[in-house]
Amino acid sequence: MPLSANPSLPFFESYPDAMVIVDRTGTIRRVNAQAERLFGYHRDEMLGKAIEMLVPARLREHHVGHRDGYASDPRLRPMGEGMELAGLCKDGSEVPVEISLSPIETDEGLLVVSAIRDVSERKHFEATLQAKNAELEAASAAKDQFLASMSHELRTPLNAIIGFTGTLLMRLPGPLTEEQEKQLRVVQSSARHLLSLISDILDLAKIEAGKVELHLERVVLQEIVDEVHSSLRSMASEKKLEFSASAPRAPITLMSDRRALAQILLNLANNALKYTNEGSVRIEVRTRASSAGEHCDISVIDTGVGIKDEDRERLFQAFEQLEPLSTRRVEGAGLGLYLSQKLARLVGGYLSFTSEFGKGSTFTLSLPLLEEAA
Ligand SMILES: Nc1ncnc2c1ncn2[C@@H]1O[C@H](COP(=O)(O)OP(=O)(O)OP(=O)(O)O)[C@@H](O)[C@H]1O
Ligand SMILES: [Mg+2]
Repeated sequence: MPLSANPSLPFFESYPDAMVIVDRTGTIRRVNAQAERLFGYHRDEMLGKAIEMLVPARLREHHVGHRDGYASDPRLRPMGEGMELAGLCKDGSEVPVEISLSPIETDEGLLVVSAIRDVSERKHFEATLQAKNAELEAASAAKDQFLASMSHELRTPLNAIIGFTGTLLMRLPGPLTEEQEKQLRVVQSSARHLLSLISDILDLAKIEAGKVELHLERVVLQEIVDEVHSSLRSMASEKKLEFSASAPRAPITLMSDRRALAQILLNLANNALKYTNEGSVRIEVRTRASSAGEHCDISVIDTGVGIKDEDRERLFQAFEQLEPLSTRRVEGAGLGLYLSQKLARLVGGYLSFTSEFGKGSTFTLSLPLLEEAA
């Protein structure tokens, strides 16, 4: 049966891939227009020649062996799976290809149809992608390095500013006028503010990069609550707010990261004091049993400005503050809750809140008391 009449190859000429048909001896018997285009030969230059003319010299020997092998087990299959295949063009250039082979029985005996796809564009794309990946990895490593050194570089001078302002305010080097003292206090509080802002941003970068290392240890919750309470007591008394902390007598211990817990509670209590102008802020610790096991809830309850329902979603987003910058009277970057929620999840807990606009809010950190979950 003449090949052109072979019913299994109706679209031979118009096939989008290059097609080359060879016989048992490896002689090219037919090619389509795409094959002419791909290899740069006119079809007359290919017909009757050994298929190896289209195979780069370095692969040729291999190819002859495989061709013989194929003749003994002819079936539809991709050629050289997992190998980088290439075709040799008339001008001596190579083109990366993917080849699938299928046998056909004809009057002339077994012939093998090779469908040859030019994959240079895909290869080029893969190579670009690989280069981009390597670039990104290098950039990410550089960023980590930058953060690690910046964290030190930024904190060191700020600690010096805060430290020396402190000694000046303690009048160690000599007396101060009232005005000097006033200005030094501004220097000190601004530097402290900047330090906490830098710490927040660096913490955030670390969390986002998955670089936070938790130091799990046995912690007594009441101790952390006491620390937070004492460190914010002066802020409360400056604003003339009642500020209390209460917890069950029996120590509540859990395996967790002390610094993370303290930071979350500091953020919550600091917010409560910041956004309350009169009344009180209470920290309350309770344990509760649920279907998921024993939990501990640490709530910070304020009688402050409260949060509107429509603002609930924005609260835990980075750099979100409910009050527009123009009318803000309190400091902040809008990172506290975002960071706290991330930290809470890292230690196996979560943050939630209830609020009534104009009346006050309750923010709660819930922690599982199962030792291994914390
Ligand atoms: N207890 C609260 N009562 C009322 N509004 C609150 C309370 N806590 C947070 N908010 C609102 O949520 C916003 C986001 O809080 P978050 O702690 O993330 O940022 P911040 O306090 O503005 O700045 P930062 O914590 O970075 O210093 C606040 O700007 C405030 O509008
Ligand atoms: Mg805050």
